[in-house]
Amino acid sequence: MNQHTKPNAPVLDSYWMPFTANRQFKAAPRLLASAEGMHYTSTDGRTILDGTAGLWCVNAGHGRRQIASAVERQLTTMDFAPSFQMGHPIAFDFAERLAEIAPGPDGQKLDRVFFTGSGSESVDTALKMAIAYQRAIGQGTRTRLIGRERGYHGVGFGGISVGGILNNRRVFPQLPGSDHLRHTHDPAKNAFVKGQPEHGAELADDLERLVALHGAETIAACIVEPVAGSTGVLIPPKGYLERLRAICDKHGILLIFDEVITGFGRLGAPFATDFFSVTPDMVTAAKGLTNGAIPMGAVFASRKVHDALMHGPENAIELFHGYTYSGHPAACAAGIATLDIYRDEGLMTRAAELQDAWHDAMHSLKGLPYVIDIRTIGLIAGIELQSRDGAIGARAYDVFVDCFEKGLLIRVTGDIIAFSPPLIADENHFGEIVSILGDALKRAK
Ligand SMILES: Cc1ncc(COP(=O)(O)O)c(C=O)c1O
Repeated sequence: MNQHTKPNAPVLDSYWMPFTANRQFKAAPRLLASAEGMHYTSTDGRTILDGTAGLWCVNAGHGRRQIASAVERQLTTMDFAPSFQMGHPIAFDFAERLAEIAPGPDGQKLDRVFFTGSGSESVDTALKMAIAYQRAIGQGTRTRLIGRERGYHGVGFGGISVGGILNNRRVFPQLPGSDHLRHTHDPAKNAFVKGQPEHGAELADDLERLVALHGAETIAACIVEPVAGSTGVLIPPKGYLERLRAICDKHGILLIFDEVITGFGRLGAPFATDFFSVTPDMVTAAKGLTNGAIPMGAVFASRKVHDALMHGPENAIELFHGYTYSGHPAACAAGIATLDIYRDEGLMTRAAELQDAWHDAMHSLKGLPYVIDIRTIGLIAGIELQSRDGAIGARAYDVFVDCFEKGLLIRVTGDIIAFSPPLIADENHFGEIVSILGDALKRAK
């Protein structure tokens, strides 16, 4: 009997679910009821190992009492406060704490922090900041935004304009002038690699081609995910990000790293910026910022970007932008408690300790049916399956359902399985992932 046919099961009609095949889901729902540590419990009482940290956000694992208590304390002290021409101490405190661990080397840290409510809002905020910055320094013709094929930058109109996913774009208009680099995924040369692949740094030169095509004086910024997650774990080739940085510098183009999934320890350093030792001008974040407990995002901006906008009459609002929930007190409380946990449990660097065992576990799946590539970096893995003829995504979807029924939550995009377990995982969890997924692959058709 399906959960939704049980007497006290929820009625599923009214909730229009995001990024979900609503009719298919409601015919056979998968419902989660509670979560603790590395596991969910489904509404039919099964324990499900979380292979995806929820949606790349629950880096410290589920059910952290410290976060819940901090949020409760804050909500009973002051539930909400306006952030426009008003302030509340906890937002400043959280920004100061973030500034201490901000992406970038000492002396160049991106330590000016703007709060948003999500990754999508962080992306649109950073894109607007880039255009405002260019205008502030007398480069007002620079309004064009460059993204990359197969990039995911959320679902705002800015994010889908620089994003490179067909289904996110085909129905909706985009910002005029946005353009794209080619993606870096080249399984013919780079299959079954642990860490950064060897081939493809020259793809960064696409930015030179776009400069030649459009003129540098029209381009405000280039945004990329240092490791692309949503389109199936695309790891930057060695030298690629460095080359992109150099081309941006040469042409006065701001570089934005979208670290919504790589921020807060996913690669074994606080940010991908630190892991790859390439410093952009802005970093977008969300998800792990509050361990997923309360929705929140942030943009980390360099002093160069921030200070350029701190001009004009002192009574003028420097950036006409913000959200009702920017710096929400409960989200800030969750964020500070999250940072405490990351620090106390060494979670910002734990992926570096786990990564060899993780990579070995994931690459042990090589040779199983339909596996055509495995790529790993930090505590991330992408396992690419051969697609069924004429049915892209169908095979991985079946594997996803099979794994869920056997007690493992995986994430699929097209025919790529993506893993990003909570950073509290250990080798036993890796073994369990390999075992459940391996069996599902052997059953796959
Ligand atoms: C790189 C990246 N940017 C932006 C987003 C959008 O974040 P949100 O869903 O919080 O709007 C995501 C979400 O997965 C993401 O992976």
